Amino acid sequence: MTKNSLDQLRDKIESLDLELLRLLNERASVSLQIGRVKAKDGLDVHDPWREQAIFDYLAKHNKGPLKAGEIQEIFQGIVSISKRLQSAVSSNRSDLQAKSDDVDTSFAVGGKTALYGILGNPVGHSMSPLMHNTAFRLLGLDAIYLPFEVDDLSVALTGMKALNVKGASVTHPFKTQIIGLLDEIDDTAERIGAVNTLVFGKNNVRGANTDWIGAARCLETLLLIQGHRFVVIGAGGAARAVVFGITSKGGTAIVVNRSYEKGRALAEEFDCAFVPLSEIKSIGGDCLVNTTPVGMYPKTDEMPVPREVLGAYKAVADAVYNPLKTLLLKEAEAAGCTVASGLEMFVHQGVEQFRAWTGKEAPIDEMREVVCKRLLNEAHQADQEY
Ligand SMILES: NC(=O)c1ccc[n+]([C@@H]2O[C@H](COP(=O)([O-])OP(=O)(O)OC[C@H]3O[C@@H](n4cnc5c(N)ncnc54)[C@H](OP(=O)(O)O)[C@@H]3O)[C@@H](O)[C@H]2O)c1
Repeated sequence: MTKNSLDQLRDKIESLDLELLRLLNERASVSLQIGRVKAKDGLDVHDPWREQAIFDYLAKHNKGPLKAGEIQEIFQGIVSISKRLQSAVSSNRSDLQAKSDDVDTSFAVGGKTALYGILGNPVGHSMSPLMHNTAFRLLGLDAIYLPFEVDDLSVALTGMKALNVKGASVTHPFKTQIIGLLDEIDDTAERIGAVNTLVFGKNNVRGANTDWIGAARCLETLLLIQGHRFVVIGAGGAARAVVFGITSKGGTAIVVNRSYEKGRALAEEFDCAFVPLSEIKSIGGDCLVNTTPVGMYPKTDEMPVPREVLGAYKAVADAVYNPLKTLLLKEAEAAGCTVASGLEMFVHQGVEQFRAWTGKEAPIDEMREVVCKRLLNEAHQADQEY
């Protein structure tokens, strides 16, 4: 045989192999379909009668030169691989079955599910969906709370009305901007100049502020507000709620801010003293409250005041809750102060939102726990990434 004719035969073998390859894969696809049917009907993958029937059928149609035994040897390999494929399909289904057994089917979004959400930008980091959905599930309410990352606040509000949303949280940067778009606003929210809660009625949307209640309850875990002196760092939205909470409960607030104009304006509005941040060392009080974002993740190695000033206070509270224990709180503890994390403020403002929306008492301990666990988990992951 010449080299040329050997090459020709090898070419023929190659093209037959390609045809066999195509047919084997086509057979495997059909075998997988059979596997799915067997899994669905609860039939065993292993079926010796069916295997024998295949070998008998092939032997009957075999025209050689392969002998019946040789054909069986080849097809035993094919059948064995087919069984392996079918077993994989069947175990995937049983994994899914096991997972679906764990799914809590007592709640599923339906036509009557009440919609709640948070308006902000960004909102991806917000712990409010986790906190409120936990409360809804624990109380067995047919309600769901979603994050809404908004560009155009007015359009978003119109959309929420049209979609029959029942309630919403409002976060950065919309707490002041939303006021002009509402039908009604509570006296306290108007006085504070910020809205963090929306309650949707049949024909109106009412704005409220629960941040100040959260702040007051958080501070009350440290000391009685009435008759005590609080030094509040910052003059933004959180500071407004904190200063309102302190003054309305009979405490004295001193506003301390980096920028003079904003700090002074807030102090004047609430009839308080103002001290520039650069002069913080010249004052002291019963409790220091940070309402700036300084120390918030990822810049966790920063604090809003020099550590030397902490000795001038009995207690320190932080509005920041990520991380749960900021550098400010760590240093304050080292200086002998009692401390409260922003988590306390966050959970209490959420409890009041929940009451405004549902009229029910929120499961505060479980709400705190679920957020705390998530924050600790995220901190752990961040440490690992680092
Ligand atoms: N725990 C809770 O429930 C809760 C609720 C609301 C807010 N917060 C937290 O509170 C923090 C502030 O929120 P906000 O809405 O009040 O913000 P904001 O309206 O933007 O106000 C921020 C304030 O912090 C000051 N500030 C910012 N960076 C500073 C820096 N590097 N050094 C000194 N001062 C600085 C600003 O001073 P200038 O006036 O000089 O710019 C401003 O007065 C955020 O971390 C937020 O997550 C927590």
